[in-house]
Amino acid sequence: MAELDLPLILDRTAARPLAVQIADGLRAAAVAGSLRGGDRLPSSRALATQLGVSRTVVTSAYDQLHAEGWLSGRHGSGTYLTAAPAPARPHPAPPPDPDPVAGLLDLTPGTPCVEAIDRAAWRRAWRLAGDRTPLMYKARAGVPDFCAAVTDHLLRHRGLATDGDSVVLATSGTGSAIGELAAALLRPGDAVAMEDPGYQRAAGALRAEGIRLVPIPVDADGLRIDAIPSDVKAVYCTPAHQFPLGSRMPATRRIALVELARRIGAFVIEDDYDGELRYDTAPLPLLISLAPDVVVHLGTASKILSTGLGVGWLVAAPQVARAIVAHRESTGTGPAPAGQQVVAELAAHGDLARHLRRLRREMPPRRALLVDELRGRGVRVLGDDAGSHVVATLGSAAAEARVIAAARAQGVLLDGLTRHHLGTPSRYGIALGYAALPRAALPGAARIAARCLAGIDRAPRPIRAAP
Ligand SMILES: Cc1ncc(COP(=O)(O)O)c(C=O)c1O
Repeated sequence: MAELDLPLILDRTAARPLAVQIADGLRAAAVAGSLRGGDRLPSSRALATQLGVSRTVVTSAYDQLHAEGWLSGRHGSGTYLTAAPAPARPHPAPPPDPDPVAGLLDLTPGTPCVEAIDRAAWRRAWRLAGDRTPLMYKARAGVPDFCAAVTDHLLRHRGLATDGDSVVLATSGTGSAIGELAAALLRPGDAVAMEDPGYQRAAGALRAEGIRLVPIPVDADGLRIDAIPSDVKAVYCTPAHQFPLGSRMPATRRIALVELARRIGAFVIEDDYDGELRYDTAPLPLLISLAPDVVVHLGTASKILSTGLGVGWLVAAPQVARAIVAHRESTGTGPAPAGQQVVAELAAHGDLARHLRRLRREMPPRRALLVDELRGRGVRVLGDDAGSHVVATLGSAAAEARVIAAARAQGVLLDGLTRHHLGTPSRYGIALGYAALPRAALPGAARIAARCLAGIDRAPRPIRAAP
């Protein structure tokens, strides 16, 4: 049985006898919940030694509590707290998680296809990770075999050969990596150019470090390089699959971007959040393979495996990697090893590669089903044949709100483009993710979304007050 840490403090100067103080302390602990019904109390001898009092003092306190019905058992068989009243103040509930909405069919983007995970392989990876010797020190740069697995993953699935020019570090995911980059390389008040519409958690991570965001419009080729002012210290973008609109930045624009970065002395954050998921054409060269001197590449396990792993990676020039590790060292932070070890085990047994192949088979029919449903009802769809979401366009914020409300009334959760803007919204529509739902639930949810988008199932217009 675990030793109880009894919160007893005796005041030897007080007039109250020590036995009364002990009994009061134990009663208070039972009422507060730090002692529970069934807990075994220390023997009178042990408690007397612990408190530095004579054994008769403790026995007298226990006798009093026995008489009051708080304790049961004695002499050799152990002394137990019988039952304790429920704490007077119930434990406060944690704040609700803003992400999942229970009971709704989730067609929002960002959630991975956990249905495609081979659960036997998943269990084995966790078990093998648990068999490892517990780490005594924080691995600030990441668990070495995780970093090696990522290096191999980037070579095989993203065509990136990391060599002396760049270093792979583990991260806790994209958002925290962006925060670390800002803390290590930028100063509060510095300006960073960001796609608009764009990934609001990247914006949030930068704002949290005091960074001034400069919204840059996005066109059919992604971030508009010509609109980036020369005073920015960094540029954030999603060149493989612009989030949320879904375009791919062509090679000429990629070259123009890294040349601009070199000219103005800025670095580029390449958020490759779903770069592994491309179904039509071969991927274009990563920005970091064009310019490892000015690009920091970010990847994540959140889209290809599970958000809950809290695992990502960062590839950057050695001096950037050193600055990040120094920042972690000085703040006592760093990516937690458990998820990294699981990914390393999945990679070591070929399960990561098998899973990616499965995802690449699983996603295209899901996408086709959703796109056919939308186009079949005359809805305009944007976005490359990649990733795990598409965008259906709408004409106004009001239309967006109506579609979201109508779908919600039928049990389907949708995500509007309005909330993905930094400034005044310029694009309206719905970003539809097709990875989260079990495959069997997708056709029904897609049908409801398509009908709502086509205006067949309208939410009532809000009633305007008379002027
Ligand atoms: C654009 C973008 N980047 C990154 C991520 C993943 O972030 P993280 O690694 O912090 O889970 C997402 C997930 O939705 C995303 O949409």
